Amino acid sequence: MKTEVLNPFPVTTYISNIYFCNRELEIETLKKNAQNGLHTSLFAQRRIGKTGLIKHFFYHIQKENEIKCLYIDIFSTQNQTEFTKMLSNEIFRIFPPGKSIGKKFLEAIQSFRPVLSYDSLSGTPELSLDIADSKTKEKSIEEIFRFLDKQQFPLVIAIDEFQQITEYPEKNTEALLRSIMQQMQHITFVFCGSHLRLMSELFHNAKRPFYASCQSMYLGKIAEEDYSPFIKKHFGNSKRTISDESIVFILNWTCRHTYYTQYLCNQVFATGKSKIELSDTQLVCKAILNQEQMIFFQYKKLLTADQWLLLIAMAKEQRVTQPYSHGFISKYKLKSSANVKRSLESLLEKEMLYSETTSDETYYEVYDKFLMRWLERV
Ligand SMILES: Nc1ncnc2c1ncn2[C@@H]1O[C@H](COP(=O)(O)OP(=O)(O)OP(=O)(O)O)[C@@H](O)[C@H]1O
Ligand SMILES: [Mg+2]
Repeated sequence: MKTEVLNPFPVTTYISNIYFCNRELEIETLKKNAQNGLHTSLFAQRRIGKTGLIKHFFYHIQKENEIKCLYIDIFSTQNQTEFTKMLSNEIFRIFPPGKSIGKKFLEAIQSFRPVLSYDSLSGTPELSLDIADSKTKEKSIEEIFRFLDKQQFPLVIAIDEFQQITEYPEKNTEALLRSIMQQMQHITFVFCGSHLRLMSELFHNAKRPFYASCQSMYLGKIAEEDYSPFIKKHFGNSKRTISDESIVFILNWTCRHTYYTQYLCNQVFATGKSKIELSDTQLVCKAILNQEQMIFFQYKKLLTADQWLLLIAMAKEQRVTQPYSHGFISKYKLKSSANVKRSLESLLEKEMLYSETTSDETYYEVYDKFLMRWLERV
């Protein structure tokens, strides 16, 4: 795909394979799963690159294996009806209603009285369905998936922000989707979500329908030996240079967290300078923190004084493994381990803090890396 962009470090969406760094192992696994009928559940911290990975995976399998792909981000859906509508609209986007499969799809959903209109600006089809009662809702979801499966071509369906189904008033959604998934012969699914705790509950709790239904994939940070040459190359492609010191600084300052690294690189590139030195990079970091500080002040208002103090302590340490230890509590003048526990739980729930358990420890970090850099100066 040859898409020229002004800035080679996109921060909003996946642009093309050219601007995507590595993830080769993950792409291989996703491809293998799609070719072998294995479903995948994708876990990762926020903003690490889950959606980008799915788009990149689609780019590869559509090109190399001619597998059809369908992606929906259900974050904005509130119930099964909106889920069905989003799925149907995406089917029409891939198989336009005037063409063979699109036409057949329209016929297949006739009992739900589809009304098709076209967006006046973009021309994309917009569907409305008459699915009011709960039985019809379930039936419509089942029929749509059955229709897709009946087309007999391999299809990968990625459902992003999948944890949103736990918010639907229809509490049978998990069981319904799980049972549909079991009946599919040509469709493999990738479930992905940014709410780690909810996603883990959905897929790793033995009492829930999706338990042991998918291969779990954990998406970590991009390695320094991959990110570093990637950054250098993209400055080089635009006939600019960036010093090695700057790159080391960028990857350290953002803790190699994809979104923050991309954003900082984007802003360094946006300076327009043809030769980037460490001092230029540091100036950009300062400017970013200045831009963001209004939001950071808002956070302060929303937290209790104890929570705010704990957040500052976590930021200054960068990574904490023993938040209840006497050393940590006294160093930052926190009240007591019980008080830290309460604040910690609340900050984790609000996703201001991130926690991960490895084979030998559990650690805590401030989730937003720009906030972390700002707090450590407080
Ligand atoms: N491997 C990569 N190389 C370059 N840019 C990437 C890579 N992965 C992700 N990005 C970019 O980083 C930004 C954040 O990635 P993305 O939106 O995919 O993260 P996410 O994990 O889905 O976030 P969220 O938790 O908010 O849904 C996007 O602009 C994306 O294009
Ligand atoms: Mg995402």
